[in-house]
Amino acid sequence: MPQISQLFFKTAIIWLIIGLIVGLQMGMSGNHTTIAAHAHVNLLGWVSSAIFGGYYALNPSKANKRLAMVHYAMYTFGLLVMLPALYFMELGNTQLEPLVGIGSLITFAGALVFAAVIFSKEVVGVREARQA
Ligand code: HEM
Repeated sequence: MPQISQLFFKTAIIWLIIGLIVGLQMGMSGNHTTIAAHAHVNLLGWVSSAIFGGYYALNPSKANKRLAMVHYAMYTFGLLVMLPALYFMELGNTQLEPLVGIGSLITFAGALVFAAVIFSKEVVGVREARQA
């Protein structure tokens, strides 16, 4: 599996563990205040990162592009800014709202880079070209 896929899956599983802990915390306490943080950690963190990892594993020629690493760095950094800020904002720290906004925009930029990766030309190796 390409290194970028490994990176995305390693990051995804950390998000899943955090997302499940927040879910369990809500379930056990009966306090569902952090519902948006839970949903976004699970869906942007776990599900989307795992899908990215799967995409690069299925398209190894795209995995070696520098753009793929830009995608990983930008998307993951955006979530690192956005998700903790969202969690603590839901717990009453409303001053964190601008940080949630900034993190969301960086995450969105990361998604745009992924769109560029998807639409970029596939580099076909000599062996694949012979088999085609
Ligand atoms: C240990 C596992 C999990 C527990 C204990 C848990 C617990 C919860 C709780 C207590 C809520 C709040 C429900 C409410 O107030 O209406 C919730 C909402 C939600 N959870 Fe989880 N969850 C878990 C796993 C997941 C996973 C794996 C995902 C996605 C991949 C997920 C996505 C969501 C979403 C999207 C909502 C919002 C639903 C809505 O607004 O109607 N959860 N979860």
